[in-house]
Amino acid sequence: MTFFARAFGVALLLAAPIAMAQQPAPLQLEGSVSPQPWQRYGDWNKARWDSYNTLANRALTPLKGNEIEIKEVKGDPAAGQKLAFDRNRGGGCLACHIMGPKTLELPGNVGPDLSEIGNAGRTDQWFFNYVFDPRVYNPQSVMPPWGKHGFYNEAEIRDIVSFLKTLKTPAKFAEALDDPAKRAKPVENRDATDPFVNPAMDRVDPGAALFKTPGPNGQACIACHADPKTAFKQWAAEMPKWEPRLKKVLGAEEFIARHAKATTGADVLMETQGNIDLSIYLHNLASGSTIKVDLSAPDAQAAYERGVALSQAKIGQFNLACTDCHQQAANKWIRGQWLGDPKGQYDHFPVWRTSRNENWDIRKRFQWCNVQVRANELPPDAVEYGELELYLRKANEGLTLSSPNIRH
Ligand code: HEC
Ligand code: HEC
Ligand code: HEC
Repeated sequence: MTFFARAFGVALLLAAPIAMAQQPAPLQLEGSVSPQPWQRYGDWNKARWDSYNTLANRALTPLKGNEIEIKEVKGDPAAGQKLAFDRNRGGGCLACHIMGPKTLELPGNVGPDLSEIGNAGRTDQWFFNYVFDPRVYNPQSVMPPWGKHGFYNEAEIRDIVSFLKTLKTPAKFAEALDDPAKRAKPVENRDATDPFVNPAMDRVDPGAALFKTPGPNGQACIACHADPKTAFKQWAAEMPKWEPRLKKVLGAEEFIARHAKATTGADVLMETQGNIDLSIYLHNLASGSTIKVDLSAPDAQAAYERGVALSQAKIGQFNLACTDCHQQAANKWIRGQWLGDPKGQYDHFPVWRTSRNENWDIRKRFQWCNVQVRANELPPDAVEYGELELYLRKANEGLTLSSPNIRH
């Protein structure tokens, strides 16, 4: 118990601060950090689509259709045109197709121009089946199964087919804006760092204030992180991450909720004001840093690959995958909305959405894109959203984080 023992003790003491800095961040490991039970946001479409695939259950919808035999389609073309142009019936055909000279304003071009489909020599059986369920001919179709998934009944589809058969003349556009091939792509060039332009900037200070506010156990974040500007200069640009203790991919917002509970004792559940404020504050500290994704652990790589598969999974009554809109149809128009591709979609969250007057983190955007295709959304801390987030972040690797930002 002499020299060696004491020298060893000193070495341990010296090593201690280094070991402390490398200790993993304390996390609440049990339970969910979504509001419970999860309920869809107040003013969102409240319908349930329980019989169609969700990201968590992808075995509900058959992958292929069965061809229906039909000799001759007899219907009412005028009624068919009305249905095809009606936005209240699943968005209508004009959301993705140009349909001859009568085409209304702002058609999309996700699908081919159908203006002359009546000259294409298609049989009635082909027409009927393609509209009823395009998977009969093309399992990867980017078109919803209008009949099979109950948007239109068989009589209505006969009317729509009768209308399609009348289409024999190219469309003419009165204004360039109406032609999706000529419509100018939207450019986002607002100064997001200016709080007069971007209301999300107004949440940076409340987030910083929360960082200094003691939680129920008397401690504040700042007690352990005295210099957040330096300590967290990269952190948010390097999320999400595979978290071995939870065996899932953790995004910034889920980390905040689990870490706060384990340290200050505060409840900052995902999608609550405190969580989004802390997220905006921490993202702003990392704004300007390069986005990095760590897939070096085999578990992280496997989670990434599951994320890629999730991005390609057909879900909802519309039976559309993320990649149907953001890859196959990227740089095209779905009605008046330009579809972005994955690179450039996840370098700027959280965002102020001018069309919703709210700040959204990435999980809320996932939920929105789920509900848009009429798929039940998942709670924000769902495993699947973590994997999808990892996939999307990887597609944005190397870009500069610019956060918080502003979008339509
Ligand atoms: C979400 C976008 C979308 C909507 C909405 C949509 N389609 Fe399509 N449609 C497509 C795409 C993409 C194709 C190209 C092939 C494929 O993916 O199946 C297509 C192909 C077609 C074809 C076959 C064209 C050909 O020559 O091969 C027909 C016919 C058609 N659509 C009719 C309709 C009708 C009728 C409606 C409205 C009830 C409609 N579409 C709505 C995306 C859409
Ligand atoms: C009791 C001390 C303590 C408190 C209080 C605390 N943290 Fe931490 N925090 C840690 C430790 C330990 C780590 C892991 C080592 C490190 O990165 O400094 C960490 C890490 C982090 C990280 C980096 C994450 C990572 O993966 O390493 C962030 C971001 C963070 N904390 C934010 C916060 C926020 C926000 C609060 C308040 C809600 C908070 N911390 C409160 C101890 C604390
Ligand atoms: C029916 C088409 C459609 C599908 C399917 C779809 N989205 Fe979107 N998404 C949109 C539209 C429209 C926008 C707004 C325009 C844009 O930014 O591309 C959007 C925006 C986004 C944004 C924000 C982009 C930004 O720059 O702020 C993200 C992220 C996103 N989608 C992810 C997804 C993911 C992940 C999925 C799959 C779960 C998905 N989307 C499925 C249509 C779709």
